[in-house]
Amino acid sequence: MEFIKVTPNYAPHIALIELNRPKELNALNLQLMGELRDALKALDQEDEVRVIVITGNERAFAAGADIKQMAGKGTIDMWKVDQFSTWDQINKTRKPIIAAVSGFALGGGCELAMSCDMIVASETAQFGQPEIKIGVMPGAGGTQRLTRAIGKAKAMELVLTGRFIKAEEALSYGLINQIVPVELYLEESIKLAKEIASMSPIATQMAKEAVKRSFETHLDEGLHFERKNFYMLFAAEDQKEGMNAFVEKRKPEFKGK
Ligand code: HXC
Repeated sequence: MEFIKVTPNYAPHIALIELNRPKELNALNLQLMGELRDALKALDQEDEVRVIVITGNERAFAAGADIKQMAGKGTIDMWKVDQFSTWDQINKTRKPIIAAVSGFALGGGCELAMSCDMIVASETAQFGQPEIKIGVMPGAGGTQRLTRAIGKAKAMELVLTGRFIKAEEALSYGLINQIVPVELYLEESIKLAKEIASMSPIATQMAKEAVKRSFETHLDEGLHFERKNFYMLFAAEDQKEGMNAFVEKRKPEFKGK
């Protein structure tokens, strides 16, 4: 891996993926995205891993897709590359993913953060969809995910003006989960990951799947899907362990079985 660093056992049950093109502010070129796809696919299969944290560095989570790589391309070049099948893997990942964001999360970088399940932001984080300023528009889900996250009025404003918003504003719109001091953004993300990793991994993955379904369907079908996952969890040893532990007044020990 040249442009990302993967630490599968960064903490018990927690894998860390660091985007690693610091000079280019972690601009997401095709190779980086391919590496990210492969890493997510592998970590999703790894039983030991329960939660995945994706981060950049203090200055940039990612400043977008690599403009230099795209500048000379035509429609058919872009179509042939089919880069969005790479992005689809992020969406298919079953395990919860936390984006630990500091500095710029712009364009594809903002879309990558929004493709994760939760965003922990440092007080220096800035989010935006500035594609309009370079003559294009979001292409990796920005118009859809941003609108679902913060509503039409603000999404339209950000997509049409390309304005960046700071962490405070992002929090007020419900785009991110929390703001933490810059020196703590990774630590706090791992803390949140640890809390989730202490639950049954089967239950967290089924719950994640059901929450995501709410964006894709109407209420009746979403409730039906939720119910199916709820019933399915009663086939897991973790359900017995969790409920018995409550009755016996002890801490549960989930095994992912
Ligand atoms: C390629 C990038 C880049 C990008 C920064 N760099 N962003 N290279 N693609 N998206 C490079 C710069 O060219 C520069 O390299 C180095 O990183 C440092 O950036 P500076 O501009 O010198 O830093 P600064 O003045 O601090 O400005 C930071 C910035 C600015 C505000 C984030 O870099 C910026 O506006 N970047 C582009 C943001 C953007 O438009 N993103 C959307 C891309 S389109 P050199 O070699 O010159 O020093 C997109 C579409 C997604 O994401 C569609 C799905 C794939």
